[in-house]
Amino acid sequence: MDERILIVEDDLNTLEGLAEILSEEKFEVSKAKNGRIALEEVQKGNFNIVLMDYLLPDRDGLEISRIILERHPEIKIIMMTAFGSVKNAVEAMKLGIYDYLTKPIDLDELLIVINRAIKEQQLITENLDLRDKLQQTYSFDNIIGVSGKMQEIFKKILKVAVTDATVLIRGDSGTGKELIARAVHFQSARSSQPLIEINCASIPETLLESELFGHEKGAFTGAYKSKKGKFELAHRGSIFLDEIGELPLGVQAKLLRVLQDRSFTRVGGIENIEVNVRLIAASNKNLENAMEKGLFREDLYYRLNVIPIFIPPLRERPEDIGPLTDYFLKKYAAKNNKEISGITPEAMDILLQYHWPGNIRELENSLENAIVMTESSIINKTDLPGYLQSQDSEKSAGSFRLSEVLKANENIPFREQLQMCEREIIRRALKDSEGNKTHAARKLGFSLRTLRNKLQRFNLQEE
Ligand SMILES: Nc1ncnc2c1ncn2[C@@H]1O[C@H](COP(=O)(O)OP(=O)(O)OP(=O)(O)O)[C@@H](O)[C@H]1O
Ligand SMILES: [Mg+2]
Repeated sequence: MDERILIVEDDLNTLEGLAEILSEEKFEVSKAKNGRIALEEVQKGNFNIVLMDYLLPDRDGLEISRIILERHPEIKIIMMTAFGSVKNAVEAMKLGIYDYLTKPIDLDELLIVINRAIKEQQLITENLDLRDKLQQTYSFDNIIGVSGKMQEIFKKILKVAVTDATVLIRGDSGTGKELIARAVHFQSARSSQPLIEINCASIPETLLESELFGHEKGAFTGAYKSKKGKFELAHRGSIFLDEIGELPLGVQAKLLRVLQDRSFTRVGGIENIEVNVRLIAASNKNLENAMEKGLFREDLYYRLNVIPIFIPPLRERPEDIGPLTDYFLKKYAAKNNKEISGITPEAMDILLQYHWPGNIRELENSLENAIVMTESSIINKTDLPGYLQSQDSEKSAGSFRLSEVLKANENIPFREQLQMCEREIIRRALKDSEGNKTHAARKLGFSLRTLRNKLQRFNLQEE
C-alpha cells in the first residue's frame, strides 16, 4: 500500500513542485494551500506524513500541527521553515513534531527524512497494540500508574520516544526516574541500539570526563591505552545521565558542546569525534537553585530541558498505592517462593495513610520486608515494618519511635530523613495546639506562612 502524504504550503509553485516529485516517488499525495483545508484533509484521509509550511496565510503551522497531533498522534509532521531558528525548532520538538527542514528544501534530505519517519511509524503501530494492552492493565514497561498524573507521563513517553529530543526527568528520590528513563529509550526507534547509563554522582570528578568522553593513551597517569567513552559506546542509541545535578562545571561545558555540535574530543585527544546519541538526563536536585548559585550552567539547563518529565511524589497520587502494592506483593511472593493471596484492609489502610517520603522505593522495601517476615498467606498489619504500624497506632497512643523510622529508612537520603522527622514534629505540634495553626507555629518557631507551606508540602492539612 502506498504511503499517504499531505503537503501544506501556500506558495503554489512549491506546492505543485513537491507534489509532483513525491508522486513520482510512489507516495499518494494530497495538497492543502492553507491551514483550514489541511485540517479538513486530515479529517478525511489516513495520512502517514504531513509536510507543513511554517508560515501559512490563515493560521500558523505550529498551531495547525498541534491540532493535528492532538487528534492523530500517529501522524509524522515534518515542518518546513524559512528561518531555522533554534527557538522554532525547540518549540516544534516540544509539540512532538517529527523533524524540520530549512527552505529551500533539499530533496535528498526530504526523502531521507520521510522514509525514516515511515519506518518509525511502522514501529509505533506495532507499539500501539501494546499500548491498548497497557491501558487495560495500567502498567507500561513494568511501570505501574493508574493516577492521571502517571497516565499523562506514559502518554508523554510515547510521544517523545519517537523524537530524538533531549528529555530531563525530575522527581524526588524513589519516584521512578530510572524506570522512566529506560522506558523512553525502549519505546523509541533506538530501542535495538544500546542504552548506556551512567550515574554522575557515583564517579569521582577526576574520572568522570574520561568516563563520558574517553581518553587517549598517555592522557593522564594511568592511561596506559586509549579508551572509548560512554558517548562513543552509545552511538546510535541513547545515553542516560543520572543525577545530572552532580556534574562538575568543567564537564558541564563539554556536555554542552556535545549537545550543540554532536561532537567532542577524547581527553588528551585532538580528533573530533561525531556521535548520534539521544540524551536522557535525570535529577532529584533543585537545578534552578543550583543555577542561581552558579553550580549549574544555565545554557546547559535549557539544552537539557527540551522535554521535561516531572514525576510527582507518591503521596500526591494515592490512587497508585493499591496497584503498586498488588504488583510488589506478586513480585516478591514469587521471588521468595511464597503463596500470598493479598493484604488485609487494615494493613492496606496504613499504606494508604502514610506519606511515603522515600516514595515507591520505600513502599517496595516495606512490602518485600513484609513478605519475607510473614507467616501467613495474607499480609497483616503486624507484618509491616514497625514504624508504619506505630504511625497508625500513633493516632491514639502518640508513640513515635524516631530511631526505628530512621533505621528502616537508612538507605534514603538524609534530606528525606530530615523531612520525615520534621513532618512528624509538625504534626505533633498541631495536635498539641488542637489544630490551631497560629499556636502551633509559635511553638515551632515558624511564621504562620512557613507553617502553612510546610503543611501543604507534607500533606498535613487534613489533620
Ligand atoms: N511506577 C512504578 N512502578 C513499579 N515500580 C516502580 C515505579 N516507580 C518506581 N518503582 C521502583 O521503585 C524503585 C525506585 O525507583 P528508581 O530507582 O527509578 O527511583 P529514582 O527516582 O531513580 O530514585 P533516586 O533519585 O533515589 O535515584 C525501583 O525499584 C523501581 O523499580
Ligand atoms: Mg535513580
